[in-house]
Order: sequence, then structure tokens, then C-alpha cells
Amino acid sequence: MRILAIALAAFVATPALAQTAPGIAPILTTPEAKDVWTHARPEIARVTHVALDLRVDFASQTLAGSAVLDVLAAPGASEIVLDVDNIDVQTVSELDGPALAYQIGPRETEQGLGSALTIQLNPGTKRIRILYNTKPDASALQWLAPEQTAGKAKPYLFSQGQPINNRSWIPTQDSPGIRQIWSATLTVPGDLVAVMSGDRLDGEKGQANADGSRTYRFRMDRPVPPYLIALAVGDLAFKATGPRSGVWSEPSMLDAAAHEVGDVEKMIDAAQALYGPYRWGRYDMLVLPPSFPYGGMENPTLTFLTPTIVTGDRSNTDVVAHELAHSWSGNLVTNATWSDSWLNEGFTTYFESRIMEAVYGKERAALYTDLDWDGLQRDLKAENNGPTTRLHGDPGATAGQLDYFKGSTMLRTIEVAVGRKRFDAYLRSYFDRHAFQPQTSAGFLADIRKRLIKGDKALEAKLQLDRWVYEPGLPANAVHVKSATLAQVDAKLAAISKGAPVSTVNPKGWNTQQWLRFLNGLPRQQSPERLKELDETLGLSVSTNAYVRSAWAVLAIANRYEPALPGIEKFAGTVGRGLLIFPIYEGLIAQGDWGKPIAIRLFAKSKATYHPYVAGRVEKLVAK
Ligand code: BES
Ligand code: ZN
Repeated sequence: MRILAIALAAFVATPALAQTAPGIAPILTTPEAKDVWTHARPEIARVTHVALDLRVDFASQTLAGSAVLDVLAAPGASEIVLDVDNIDVQTVSELDGPALAYQIGPRETEQGLGSALTIQLNPGTKRIRILYNTKPDASALQWLAPEQTAGKAKPYLFSQGQPINNRSWIPTQDSPGIRQIWSATLTVPGDLVAVMSGDRLDGEKGQANADGSRTYRFRMDRPVPPYLIALAVGDLAFKATGPRSGVWSEPSMLDAAAHEVGDVEKMIDAAQALYGPYRWGRYDMLVLPPSFPYGGMENPTLTFLTPTIVTGDRSNTDVVAHELAHSWSGNLVTNATWSDSWLNEGFTTYFESRIMEAVYGKERAALYTDLDWDGLQRDLKAENNGPTTRLHGDPGATAGQLDYFKGSTMLRTIEVAVGRKRFDAYLRSYFDRHAFQPQTSAGFLADIRKRLIKGDKALEAKLQLDRWVYEPGLPANAVHVKSATLAQVDAKLAAISKGAPVSTVNPKGWNTQQWLRFLNGLPRQQSPERLKELDETLGLSVSTNAYVRSAWAVLAIANRYEPALPGIEKFAGTVGRGLLIFPIYEGLIAQGDWGKPIAIRLFAKSKATYHPYVAGRVEKLVAK
């Protein structure tokens, strides 16, 4: 604890706000920790606690109620600046006190920064109450009609905060470098269940109210960046997967979901053995409807998961390992700004592969890592090794998934250079020493130099860390892990390219990764006859595996293969996971006169089923 305090003091330059009470996380004031995606000026006054009290109204698609914010202000501070986007503010006052003057600045919509909400503070103001409601098109929230759910009978609501969407439903300082403790009271229709990314204070069914509604209370007593506050409301049921873990989903999916993520307890054990205690209490998962825009989201105590991972064979549990790993890399040690997202995603992708190896063995872990290498090469090539292939850059500027692939490859390269034992010991101490704190690239590099490299000139030269973080492209020392299982798929691909019939492929028992290697490895130019043979022999258009459907759609579109279109339309109108949907629209747009009208029609038909983030991205794509 003492060492921790000293380390913190070294990082925090502003004395006023360094004098924080116990439990209040420090902020970084170094230049590279300045977040250009927030209006907040935490060095003047910052939020340390958020208490939400909201009513969820499906008819008007709004959340309405209040946020009470605890304020820690520097001496003499006369205002606090919050982030809001598209929120209706009714009143701002001291808690049980006088009204406070406030001003809402212009709304920035290009990057989604929203508006500054500047509130005048009285001397000694400690708590502010904001009465507000959200708008139906709040960027974090997706309101689903009953038809978009598995049960088709009840509506559903969920939020997605990362990176800067939560300012559309929580008026607070929405920066990953400003950690806050929070609590929430949600009042929802009586037949629905509410879940959040914190501890539940009531039972599974909340508390019944006289008007037929139900109230659920939650609390997160460890400081988190606000992007990690999440909620979902729907017809939800729970099934335990172990003593400290379980899964929530709509009742009809619960058994399949619980089976798919059934290795999670082993994963938690493996993760703790690697990098130290799991510090968040329970680890539950929520399997959402198919419009969930990501594969997974690491909301603390309650990972959100796409239902597309439920393929029956547990071949997509890399997503679970990944989101669990974020409980350390991301949720404990958090990128101070989105310029350093690789500190979240690259570390997590490396950690994910270590969990997969511990639970399933080296070859299974190599499957994912080898596919990631393909992704790394694809992303680098698409950008011609240009400036967007830097790990550290403007927020959101790193291309594709390079923050994942290049970041994890960097850590693996260090591991191989210094040896696993030494690297693991370093990483474990890194998480311990920086727990519940923000981090920057510069901070990490200083730390690893001090604690691992320790002036070893040969090692420093060998690792080329600055090159990895600040330069484009891939340093020559990058380590490539190869999978024998995928090499067998490559052999089949080679035979097919030489004209062997598709029936020789025999994909019986293939997991998602084998399918992906195969489909993405097929030459992009294919004759209609060959496409028909592929589709009919391998059952691509009718596959129940969403990864297969997406990869097949991309190949078909690249060849303007029209018989595949009905299946593609159906897929893109149900599944809203960006990673599976964007390549379809990109492929259509790349096909110019043939593809663009199809993309426009498809989007018009499917738009209402997409989360605002996915709808916004696709809208930009089809406008190209
Ligand atoms: N934190 C990310 C999701 C995210 C990234 C949300 C960027 C908003 C902005 C999550 O941990 C993630 O990386 N999900 C992946 C799955 C993973 C196995 C690669 C996904 O969504 O596909
Ligand atoms: Zn991630």
C-alpha cells in the first residue's frame, strides 16, 4: 500500500487534487494523459462518485430521473465541466440545496464529443443533483422492439459505453482517465429484469412497487472509468456456471449460453494464476440479442456478449477469455486516453491467448494467435504500413484492429526475448502497482524500462520498444506463432486452388477458426460455378455459424455472386455485430455500380435493427 501511494504521488502533479480521500483514484496530469475526447477539466474539479436514479420508459424510449455527483474541487475552483451528448437537462442544483447556474455548450457531432455542461460551484459545493432525461436516439442506448429479441414478446434495452457514448445517458466526466465510484437505482416495467455492471443489492427480481413497476439497485464500490457503466433491461434469466460466475440471457437461450461459456471458472483460475487476484467480486456474463454491436464488452462484474459466439462447440470462448482478461488490462489498469487503446486491447489480446493456452493447451491458443497474425498482416497491408499503423496516435486513429494485433504481438515478442517467467513476474507486478489507475504509453514504457529492462543495453536494442509504440509498420523482431491445425487447412486450400473438387475439403467437425482460415484463404476471384459448388457442398448460405456467414458473404460479394444475396440480406438484417457486418457493406461499396445500390437497399431495410454506433458507421460507409 505504501509503495502504491508513493508511485501515485510520483504520477500526480497537481497537488490540490492529489490530496484525495482513500478510495478516490488519482488522475494523471502528464501532457500525454490529456484527453482531447472530453470537455472535462479534472485538474480544476472532478467527479468522484455518480449516483443514478432512473426510470426506464419503453414507450417514450427514454431514461428519466437524476444523477447526483460528488465533486472534488481544487481550492478556489468556481466551476466543474461535464460531458453530455443529446441529453435534456431540466435542473441543476446542490443536493437538497439551491439551484446552480449552468451552461450547455455547442454539440460536437462529427466525433461524438457532444457538449460541455459547465456548472457554477458555490464555495464548498460537494454534491450536485442533475435532473434530466435521455433522448430516444441516445448514442449509447439501443431500444429493441420485441421482434428483435429471442422471445419476440418483450422489449429490450442495453447500453454500450466505450469509447465515449455514455455521455448520452450519464451526465458526468466521460474520460477513461477519470475514475468514479457509482451506484444506481433503476425502475423498470414489472415484467422485466434489470442488470448492471456492478454489484446487485437486491435479489434477481428486484423490489416490486405499488404501480406494478420494479426497482433494482446496484453499486460499484471500486473506482471505474465511466465508459464501464452499463445496463440492460429485458426478459432475463440467470444460470450459474460456477461459484462466482454465471450467465444471464433471455430464457429460451439460457441453457445454450451457459453451455457455451461453461469453461469460464477454469479461465478465472488461469487468469488469477497468471496475473494476480480477480478484484471485482463476481464474474457474470450477459448474452444479448444479435444486434449487440460487439463480440464482447468488458463491463465489470458483467461481461456483455454477442449471441453469435453461441455455436455449440465452445470454439468462440476466446471472446470470454478476452473480456475476462480486461478485468486486469483495461478495467484495473486503464488507458488514460483513447490514444493508447492498445494498452487496453493489445494487453488484453495477449492475456487472452495466455488464458486460452492455460485452459485448452498450446495448439488451441495458437489457432487464435495465428489468425490474429493474418489480421495483423491484412490491416498493415490495407494501410500500406502508413501512419495509422502506429500504436500510439490520435484517439481512434489506429487502423483496423492493430491496437489488438500489433499490441499483442509486441508483448509476445518481449515475452520471447526475456523469457516467460521473467515477463509474467513483471506483468503481475505491473497490474498490482497500477491497479485502479490510468496509464499512458509513456508511463508503460518508463515502467518496463525501470522494472524489466533495467539498463540492459543489449535487451533495449533488441526489443525496439519505441519503434513498436511510436512508429508505423511492424518491427522485424515480431514473433509469429503458427498453428498446425490451420496449416492442415492451408494444405486443403492449396489442393482446392489446384482444382481439387470442394468435396475433398470435408469440413466435418471444423471449428470457427478452421472455417475462417479456409474461407478467408480462398483466392478472391472465383467463378460462379465454383461459388455454387462451395455453397452447396459446404452449406455456407445456411450455416448457423455467424462467422461463416459473414466470411462467405464477403467472398460472394467480391465476385458479384447474386444467388448469395437473399442469405446475406437475412443475415445483415438480424446480426448487428460490427466486425461481421462492416466487411459486408465495405465489400458491396467496393463493387461500385453493382454493389452500392445493394448496400443502400440493405441498410435502409436493416438500419432500425442496428445499434446507433453500427448504424452510424454503416451510414458513413454507404454514403461513400
Ligand atoms: N472493449 C472491446 C469492445 C470495444 C472496442 C468497444 C472499441 C468499443 C470500442 C472488447 O473487449 C473487444 O475487444 N471485443 C472484441 C472481441 C475480442 C475477442 C476481439 C469484439 O467485439 O469483437
Ligand atoms: Zn477488448
